[in-house]
Amino acid sequence: MIRSENLRSGYIQDDVEQYLYGLLPERDGVITEMERYAEEHRVPIIGPAVARLLALFAQVSGAKRIFEMGSAIGYSTIWLARAAGPKGKVHYTDGDPANAKRASEYFRRAGVAKRINVGVGNALELIKKTPGKFDLIFNDVDKHQYPDALRVALPKLRRGALFITDNTLWSGKAARPAAPDDAATLGVQEFNRLVFASKELYPVLIPLRDGVTVCRKL
Ligand SMILES: C[S@@+](CC[C@H](N)C(=O)[O-])C[C@H]1O[C@@H](n2cnc3c(N)ncnc32)[C@H](O)[C@@H]1O
Repeated sequence: MIRSENLRSGYIQDDVEQYLYGLLPERDGVITEMERYAEEHRVPIIGPAVARLLALFAQVSGAKRIFEMGSAIGYSTIWLARAAGPKGKVHYTDGDPANAKRASEYFRRAGVAKRINVGVGNALELIKKTPGKFDLIFNDVDKHQYPDALRVALPKLRRGALFITDNTLWSGKAARPAAPDDAATLGVQEFNRLVFASKELYPVLIPLRDGVTVCRKL
């Protein structure tokens, strides 16, 4: 696989995207198997290009306490757990128990199960109930929930922490007028307005794959 259909950007030219994915080093057995599973079952994972960005930010910031909102089969969770190192703790959350079961098995096989807390339920509620603040929060829930995800995540970020959100260009639809019933695009657009207007955040929107917004809590 160079770049599978479930990872297609929607606004990056195909040959440029193929080139970008072609540069990426091979992944290990478990990660490769998860990429294949995601492709076959159309699980919308971040894929290896965005995963490397996520891991890089976790590493350079030294993040140890990490909360993930919307984890699916745990692909991004494993990248975060590996980047956080043996002293890290990553909170996996997903509303689907079957996803959590599959993810837990991958965590065991990837050798990072001890670093991950598996939470099943609404990530926006689970983050409120989890004590303390986080060094990094990764947001990948359903897109209509993005403005609410921002509201619950903000008070859970320590000063200097990173708040990273995937799909902020939403196949390019974020840049165009949305139909009134397109709740996902409207959610992403509102989210983008809110983070760039916030006095508590320093955001950068990186047009990698489907758009990734990285914010630092001021
Ligand atoms: C885009 S996928 C996550 C992919 C994952 N971050 C990765 O890259 O490997 C979104 C997942 O979030 C879950 N989800 C959506 N909204 C949620 C919510 N409010 N609480 C918990 N899980 C949610 C969905 O069930 C789905 O599995």
